[in-house]
Amino acid sequence: MYKKLNILDEKDKRLRLISKDVVFPIDDKEKEIIEKAIEELRLSQIEEYSEKYGLRPGMGLAAIQLGIQKRWFVLVEDLGEDLDEDKRFRSYFFANPKIISSSAELIYAEQGEGCLSVNREVDGIILRNARVTVEAYDVNGNKITQRLREDMAIAVQHEMDHLDGKLFYDRINKSNPFKDSDKYRGI
Ligand code: NI
Repeated sequence: MYKKLNILDEKDKRLRLISKDVVFPIDDKEKEIIEKAIEELRLSQIEEYSEKYGLRPGMGLAAIQLGIQKRWFVLVEDLGEDLDEDKRFRSYFFANPKIISSSAELIYAEQGEGCLSVNREVDGIILRNARVTVEAYDVNGNKITQRLREDMAIAVQHEMDHLDGKLFYDRINKSNPFKDSDKYRGI
């Protein structure tokens, strides 16, 4: 039987904590959790498995959503449904990430952002930089620089918010949830 990750719900106050820097080396137990998180995000994006295991589709997960108060997150990018299952996904791990540059252009997710910790529909949009360059460490503590754009740039900014105890809806304008949607590009 498939054992699902235990993802904290938005009501859990731990999601509001500021996560602490990752200190290397990451122990084997935590590396296993990272692998498991990547695997579950991958499965969640394949309809057959998301239905079979009852997984909500998601592309990112931060450590604090698993109750681990550390500055890391994982992302799994779907490169296209038409690709073979083993080539279809690209996974990312970022520890102690910093955005070192970002585009002036702002975009927003037209369908709104989703979060595996938020099990309800939330109306509204969030303006995010369309392109970001992230400096971070990989799972072995090597420094990496990664440029991300469009939905992946949004995902990075969403996950980085988790590291600072923020949830996406904190950024939605309360009186006008779709404010500026006419001024910027929705994707
Ligand atoms: Ni989230």
